[in-house]
Amino acid sequence: METQNTIEADATVESSSFLASAFREIFYSPMNLALLSIIIFLVYKIVRDRTEGPGARDLSQQQAEPELPKLRRDFTIKELRPYDGTQPDGRVLIAVNGNVYDVTKGKRFYGPGGPYATFAGRDASRNLATFNVVANDSEEYDDLSDLGAMEMDSIRDWDMQFKEKYEYVGKLLRNGEQPTDYDNENDDDDELPVDEKKKD
Ligand code: HEM
Repeated sequence: METQNTIEADATVESSSFLASAFREIFYSPMNLALLSIIIFLVYKIVRDRTEGPGARDLSQQQAEPELPKLRRDFTIKELRPYDGTQPDGRVLIAVNGNVYDVTKGKRFYGPGGPYATFAGRDASRNLATFNVVANDSEEYDDLSDLGAMEMDSIRDWDMQFKEKYEYVGKLLRNGEQPTDYDNENDDDDELPVDEKKKD
């Protein structure tokens, strides 16, 4: 009995010293503190938006919200910018990997006040690859040529996730690139995101 008590006491001391050293590790390193604050901030925003935000409305209200007409066109960086959810129709567009998606249904993430609002109306590729939520306000097309193979893989993964969840709208145009005429319904190729186009 005594031996068991000693073992239990040892285990308690061990776990409390482990906790103490874990706390020390987190709270005495400015880098860890900064990361912890970011995590707490993002979790808070996501939880708050779930309980109070537009996404928290009940299903009947969500169904009552009129769906926006489907958009099909290409965008330059400049043309994309107004679609950050602050226009009267509330539409939110985001570009990833050269593809523009209508993410209006993910407004609780990307709409005004959302945790990833800085991606709205912008090319989010670089941010997603570098785990950065600071707004990229450059009006220049970003060719991402300085990114490494792993970062480019990450961008392609995000692109696939967006493709599955959201409506594809069109291409993000490079400097001087001409927009596709999507009124020509016969060209099925126009329907596809950049990576899936037929290779000539
Ligand atoms: C720091 C810690 C982070 C935490 C704890 C966190 C947590 C989460 C959670 C829980 C979700 C899913 C919410 C849901 O489905 O209801 C989410 C979504 C998302 N996260 Fe994070 N996140 C973090 C950092 C980041 C960073 C650094 C980025 C990119 C720069 C990012 C990009 C995204 C995106 C784009 C979505 C939404 C995807 C969609 O449209 O469905 N997150 N995050």
